[in-house]
Amino acid sequence: MNTHERDMKVTVQNKNGELTFDCGERESILYAGLRQGINLPFECATGTCGTCRARVTSGDVDVRWKDAPGGARLKPDKGDILMCQARARSDCLLRVPSELVIADTAGPAMRRGIIRGLRPLTNDVMHFDLHLTSPMSFQAGQFVVLEAAGIAGGRAYSMVNFANDVERLALVVKRKPGGRFGDLLFDNLSGEAEVEVFGPLGRAVFRPEEDRNFVCIAGGSGIAGMMSILECATQVDYFRNHKGALFFGVRTLADAFYLEQLSRYAAASHGNLDVTVALSDETIGAKLHAEFPILKLANGMVHEVAAKGMAEWDRNVIAYVAGPPIMVDSTIRSLIVGGIPIKDIRYDKFS
Ligand SMILES: Cc1cc2nc3c(=O)[nH]c(=O)nc-3n(C[C@H](O)[C@H](O)[C@H](O)COP(=O)(O)OP(=O)(O)OC[C@H]3O[C@@H](n4cnc5c(N)ncnc54)[C@H](O)[C@@H]3O)c2cc1C
Ligand code: FES
Repeated sequence: MNTHERDMKVTVQNKNGELTFDCGERESILYAGLRQGINLPFECATGTCGTCRARVTSGDVDVRWKDAPGGARLKPDKGDILMCQARARSDCLLRVPSELVIADTAGPAMRRGIIRGLRPLTNDVMHFDLHLTSPMSFQAGQFVVLEAAGIAGGRAYSMVNFANDVERLALVVKRKPGGRFGDLLFDNLSGEAEVEVFGPLGRAVFRPEEDRNFVCIAGGSGIAGMMSILECATQVDYFRNHKGALFFGVRTLADAFYLEQLSRYAAASHGNLDVTVALSDETIGAKLHAEFPILKLANGMVHEVAAKGMAEWDRNVIAYVAGPPIMVDSTIRSLIVGGIPIKDIRYDKFS
């Protein structure tokens, strides 16, 4: 996306004040604000959650995805929009419900990337590499939004790897029936595809300086960001002094992936990282994985398996949750019932 075309001035207001930023005619209002360090409200950045809602009080905007599920409760006749789906057509004034702050770290940016190194992990999960035109630094747990020619809108993918100033992001996609981005990858196994990349984004991040034990609960491809968190924790030898647990929910053992890497993280953890693969649709008698016996196996829904596994834990932990929205909602409820305050739960809904 070229952000150097005609710039509009967008002013966002709330009861604490207002901020003005430039918005190119081909970028979304959300991305323009974030890129300039303005901490606008968002979660998915792709039209599904509704967190980036705002009300246009003057000026013209163009809404790209009119049926975005995140807009279901908005009142378009009153000027309500999703900032991630709206482009400014003139200078605009918007009201937003949350406090506005300028971030003290560099904002996300737009780059190009080339998808290479496609590697099927199961019959519907594909690992891929994204080679960037300029390096990116990100926090473990963050994601990028990819836009491919011929596919309307952006798709969010969490980084699997972790390093500073990287030129290659490792990503993973779980194919959904009829899903356009998944199809692009699965139907083009030996090829390359060029995409626009916006990021890094996301607040469900791991910060070693927080110095707390943590638990990761992932459903399916929700494991992506957890891999990045575990990679970062392993790099700084976090488990020398902290406890960690990962609960990875899949339907059957054949649906599980990244097990070799997970067993390496567990082996490097001084005995302080417990990894459990929870199987919702298959009953297995074994308590340990046959090939990777450092990994535990359990039967049941991942949020229930996690609740049992954490029964003896001190409640002073940070919980990371990612996966399909229904799994994330059940897990958050179960964590809260188990005594973990919502402020300590960081999540991404892969909607
Ligand atoms: C924070 C976050 C992180 C995620 N991380 C991962 C991950 O690591 N791995 C993974 O497999 N999945 C991840 N997802 C889900 C991923 O973004 C896609 O929704 C999923 O891969 C299905 O995409 P698809 O193109 O195959 O399916 P489709 O059904 O074609 O598209 C689904 C998504 O594309 C967008 N979209 C669809 N139509 C339009 C349109 N007309 N205009 C604009 N946007 C449109 C919406 O975001 C929608 O949810 C994540 C989602 C979020 C929000
Ligand atoms: S951030 Fe715009 S709908 Fe989720």
